[in-house]
Amino acid sequence: MTRVLMIGAGRMGGAMLKGWTKALGDGFRFTVIDPHADWQGLGLTPGPQLLLGRTLDEFPGDHTADIVVLATKPQNLETALQGARPAIGAGTLVVSIAAGVATRTMQDAIGAGQAVVRAMPNVGALVSRSVTAAFANPEVSPAQRDLVAELFASIGAFSWIETEADLHLITALSGSGPAYYFAFCEAMIASAIAAGLSDEVARVLAIGTLVSAGRLLEDSGDPAGLRVMVTSPKGTTAAALDALGDGGALGALAARALEAARARSVEMA
Ligand SMILES: NC(=O)c1ccc[n+]([C@@H]2O[C@H](COP(=O)([O-])OP(=O)(O)OC[C@H]3O[C@@H](n4cnc5c(N)ncnc54)[C@H](OP(=O)(O)O)[C@@H]3O)[C@@H](O)[C@H]2O)c1
Repeated sequence: MTRVLMIGAGRMGGAMLKGWTKALGDGFRFTVIDPHADWQGLGLTPGPQLLLGRTLDEFPGDHTADIVVLATKPQNLETALQGARPAIGAGTLVVSIAAGVATRTMQDAIGAGQAVVRAMPNVGALVSRSVTAAFANPEVSPAQRDLVAELFASIGAFSWIETEADLHLITALSGSGPAYYFAFCEAMIASAIAAGLSDEVARVLAIGTLVSAGRLLEDSGDPAGLRVMVTSPKGTTAAALDALGDGGALGALAARALEAARARSVEMA
């Protein structure tokens, strides 16, 4: 039985838990601590494999966990770590999903020899379609790596990265990324309404287009190939793409957006 303690059950923690309790079998037991979480609202029902509480003290007995998952905001991570202390033994793996808090900072707070993983999931976890990249410090054992991969692969796609600093760029690309597509979709809806379509029609068509484009991308893995496939020379799509990418403008905009988010992540670290 793998004992998992989660500290913080907000948007991300709640989404991950929902996916984990659904996807993983009785081999895992989750204890979840959050002072204000709305368990019902998160769709979580307590049971023998899922203990829900406001503080760890509510649960009697040995608190030692195999994995402690920290899912609070970065500014609350230190307090969260203190709350998790009774659960952290020499063999406990600490997994943080907080943006910008280095493994070294966490080791400084817990102890130099502690196994620590930093993972960057995204809001796709709400529909079990997160994309998660993670970095493990040298203290993480192969068996612990397997457990982390099992947890995150159960709620979407998972990959290990070997350079911790890459997490800044990954935060910019996929952690914050869903919002870019939401914003683009919003802009398309607003433009279509301004050009004369009804709100409802514009919304259904713009959202449906994004979803079907996503499905096609997932199947092919080749955005450039798909773009070429649907773009007839001198046709309507080509005209729009010329407007979007005029003089490399779209590429430059994407680069600026990624850099802005990456720089903010570095600043927050
Ligand atoms: N949201 C995303 O798309 C996303 C993507 C990737 C990574 N992340 C990372 O995920 C982390 C959580 O983000 P979120 O959006 O889920 O934040 P959130 O909704 O604010 O959830 C954090 C939860 O932790 C609780 N909490 C705070 N201090 C605590 C403590 N000491 N012990 C137990 N629980 C505590 C909070 O309670 P109160 O509200 O009462 O303080 C809240 O319910 C962040 O570090 C963020 O960088 C988020």
